[in-house]
Order: sequence, then C-alpha cells, then structure tokens
Amino acid sequence: MTGCVIIDSLFFLLVIISLLITLKFFVLRKKYEHLPSPESYGLIGFYFGQYFTIHEFLSKNNFIEELQLNWSSKFGSVYVYQFLHQMICITSEEEAIKKILIDKDFPKKPEIYKIVGFPFGERFLGHGLVSEIDKEKWRNRRALFNHGFKKNAISEGIDHFNSKGNELIQKLNLVADSNKSICMFDEFNRMALDAIAKIAFDLDLDTINNQESKLNTFIAKALHGLTLKMTDPFSEIRLENRNLIKEIKQSIRNLRKFSAEKLNEIIKNFEESNHMSRTILSDILRHAKCSEDLDFELLIDDFVTFFIAGQETTANALSFCVLELGQNERVLKNQINSIRNPSVRIKEK
Ligand code: HEM
Repeated sequence: MTGCVIIDSLFFLLVIISLLITLKFFVLRKKYEHLPSPESYGLIGFYFGQYFTIHEFLSKNNFIEELQLNWSSKFGSVYVYQFLHQMICITSEEEAIKKILIDKDFPKKPEIYKIVGFPFGERFLGHGLVSEIDKEKWRNRRALFNHGFKKNAISEGIDHFNSKGNELIQKLNLVADSNKSICMFDEFNRMALDAIAKIAFDLDLDTINNQESKLNTFIAKALHGLTLKMTDPFSEIRLENRNLIKEIKQSIRNLRKFSAEKLNEIIKNFEESNHMSRTILSDILRHAKCSEDLDFELLIDDFVTFFIAGQETTANALSFCVLELGQNERVLKNQINSIRNPSVRIKEK
C-alpha cells in the first residue's frame, strides 16, 4: 500500500516537472516567435530545437559559423534558433551590434564564458580579460592594459609585424622554388604567433622556421575544445570523443606550462638586468605588483589570453584576405602588379 502511494507520488511529481519544463519551453519559444527561424518539427523539435541539425552538420567536419551563414542568407540579418533550452539570436545588423556591445553594454553570458575560462574543467583562459565577467574586476584590470590598446602602442608593433611578414615571404620564396604546396593558413598562424610573441612579450619564438613547434597545434586544439563544448553539451558523455577530449585537455595544460616557463624566464631576466621594454607583458607584471589578489595562475590567464586573442584573430584575418583575393581576380592582379612595381596603385573602377 505504502509502496503504491510512493510510486503514485513520484509519478505525480514527474508529471508536474514535465509540465513545468514544457511550459518553460513554450514560453521561451513564444517570446521569439516574431523572428524568422529554421523549422523545428514535432516533439523532438519542440524540446531540442536545432540541436540535431547542428550536431549532424558539425560531425561532417564543418564549422558552426558556416551553418549560421547559411541560415543568415535564408532568414536575413536577424534570426533566431533554438539550441536545447536556449534561444540563440544571430544578427549581422551593424546598428544592432553596436547597440548590444557598446551603447547597452549587455553582460556576457556566464555559461559561455565559463566554458571559455575552464573548458572540460581545465583552466584555459581562466579569469583573463576575455573571460572575466565580473564587470568591476574586469574594469580594474582592463585599466592597466589600456595603454596596449592605444593607437601609438599598436603602431609601435608594426615594424615587428612587417619583419615577421618578410621572414614568411622568404620562406614562401624557397617553397615556390621547390614547387611544393603549402597550407597558407598554417603559415599565417605561425607568422601571427611569432609577431604577437615579439610585440606583446618581447619573445623570439621563430615558429615560422621551426616546423617542430607544437604551440600552434596546442592553441588550435584548445580552441577546438571551446567549440566542441559550446556546440555540444553532451560531448563529454560521447564515447567517440574520449581521446579528443584527452588531447584537448593535454594541449591546454601544455599551453599553460609553456606560458608559465616563459613568464618565469622573462621575470628572471628582468630581475637580473632590471630592464624590460614596455610591452603588454610589462603592463601585466606592473599589474601583478600593484594588485594583492593577483596570483601566478592569473598572470598565466592574461598571458594565454593575449597570445590567443592576438594570434588566432590576426591569422584568420590574413587568411581571409588571401581567400578573398583568390576570388577577386582584378584586385589580385592589381596587388601582384603593385608588389612588382610599388608605384602602381589599385584603381577602383
Ligand atoms: C583582426 C584582428 C582582431 C580581431 C578581429 C579581434 C577581435 C576581438 C573581439 C571580437 C574581442 C571581444 C571578445 C569578447 O569579449 O568576447 C576582442 C577582445 C580582445 N582582443 Fe582582439 N581582435 C584582434 C586582434 C587582437 C590583437 C592583435 C590582440 C593583442 C595582441 C588582441 C587582444 C585582445 C584582448 C586582450 C581582448 C579582450 C579585451 C577586453 O575584454 O578587455 N586582439 N578582440
């Protein structure tokens, strides 16, 4: 008798919980129904939204951004899609982006930035500038880095950037003579890494000429980890991901170990010579000195953050330019002419 009552109560509780969840999904979907969105069919679509479409797309070695772009061309500059219990709104409207990021300064989503800071429980960007979501803490720390974001400071890096560009061109000339093919994205990745290391930390890495360097692979794997975790909350329970997640975690550990070693080296040199040129690193160290709650792990957070924020974005931007040039014969020809003959400038039709 008591057993029946317990089963009945449990069943009742289950029904109530299911109803509440259903109501939550209903209200959530209703809130965004005025925006265009990809179709979601039946009960599975109601609860999971586009989860399976996304999972299938990514499992074919695609990037989520490609799918978002496809949806953008279909639904326009503002659309929404459901990803499990979340509605994700995508916009490419300049004004809306400015309003969200600058005018309204909407807060960062904690769930997302927790993944950026600690994917799969491994400290990656930790509480660095990008992943610190506590506005007060971020503001205090950011104030110390503002110098590094000013035009003057950025202009100072251009010579280093150009000199790394020249090293890459020398390497490309050799490859061209040998008739071998080369992956330009990997090359830009190495070049951007060397440039950021020099500009931000006064470090000479020379990964352009050192094919053995694994640093780029660690960064790429760590970023793969972020995408995996963000696009599939069930990634950790999928058996097929076991080795990949192990590699991702190891890459993050390697990256932080490398950063710790370099930081120790730079600090030791500084203590011995009492000299350090003004770089982002010297700002970080200045911060470490004047902040009581900043520990060595936080120092690594900022080191890794600048490395990745600077390297990956620059390499992507350069690769994007080459891709666009390849698709625009007229501009490409003009560029080649202007390299051969610097007095020739691109003329718009
Ligand atoms: C084409 C090049 C670049 C692009 C497209 C780019 C884009 C961005 C974007 C979108 C953010 C905001 C990220 C967020 O808060 O979630 C950001 C932040 C940041 N970027 Fe860049 N970036 C580029 C180059 C660089 C370089 C060269 C560096 C440093 C060497 C750098 C360092 C940072 C840092 C430290 C932040 C965090 C700033 C803060 O929250 O206070 N970025 N970048």
